[in-house]
Amino acid sequence: MENNNTRRNFLKKTALLSTGTIIGSSLFNAAFAAAPALNTESESLENAITNVPGTYSLPKLGYSYDGLEPHIDKATMEIHHSKHHQGYVSNLNKAIDTLDSNLIDHTKSLENIFEKMSKFPEAIRNNSGGHYNHSLFWSLMKPNGGGTPKGKLAEAINTSFGSFDEFKKQFTDASMKRFGSGWAWLVVQDGKLVVGSTANQDNPLMRLRGKGLKGKPVLALDVWEHAYYLKNQNRRADYVASFWNVVDWDMAENLFNS
Ligand SMILES: [Fe+2]
Repeated sequence: MENNNTRRNFLKKTALLSTGTIIGSSLFNAAFAAAPALNTESESLENAITNVPGTYSLPKLGYSYDGLEPHIDKATMEIHHSKHHQGYVSNLNKAIDTLDSNLIDHTKSLENIFEKMSKFPEAIRNNSGGHYNHSLFWSLMKPNGGGTPKGKLAEAINTSFGSFDEFKKQFTDASMKRFGSGWAWLVVQDGKLVVGSTANQDNPLMRLRGKGLKGKPVLALDVWEHAYYLKNQNRRADYVASFWNVVDWDMAENLFNS
């Protein structure tokens, strides 16, 4: 028992230190229901992104598939979570199984893979990003969400963008201008809030060659067509507008404050 607890605590600390992201238990409770095998509900998202490589699992949502209706529809949520996200998890575990074990430190978290991303094959890049990005995305939405941020995040948005409306405009622009598939982000970069986007399943934590958005995620929006096509078809702008009604600003503020 002691060894198990020690190992669990180590994995948690490794994840927290590597991301600089300290997310409170209540936040996880709000964001995700527990997987049956977990000791506490609060471990659900943490385990999803910090498991020993090769054993990643799909986190349960903290709301039902129809919980974000009418803004994001049940069918999209069900397929997006149970098929697309599950696919990234399964393919990530398979891809890690094929690696030379020397490439992966089996005591390290997903974020540690991101730090060495340029050394890994494409399958690891796509599927580790897919798993991490979706896990974060689910936690940044909630039924009856939306509104405006509060506290220090609200202050920082005003400082960085002039107003919340200007931030929304820039985030929406980033979402719309991402050609093809990708993600829009609000990140902390060198102490400032910055809006941008990444292609495919890349994220701002990945150390990749070339220029690209870098920083600690505060808000994320999936702009792959699979995230909106069933309800909105080609109208990405409608989907982005809907997103503002389900944002969990408490989660975003917690990420920012950490
Ligand atoms: Fe997606």
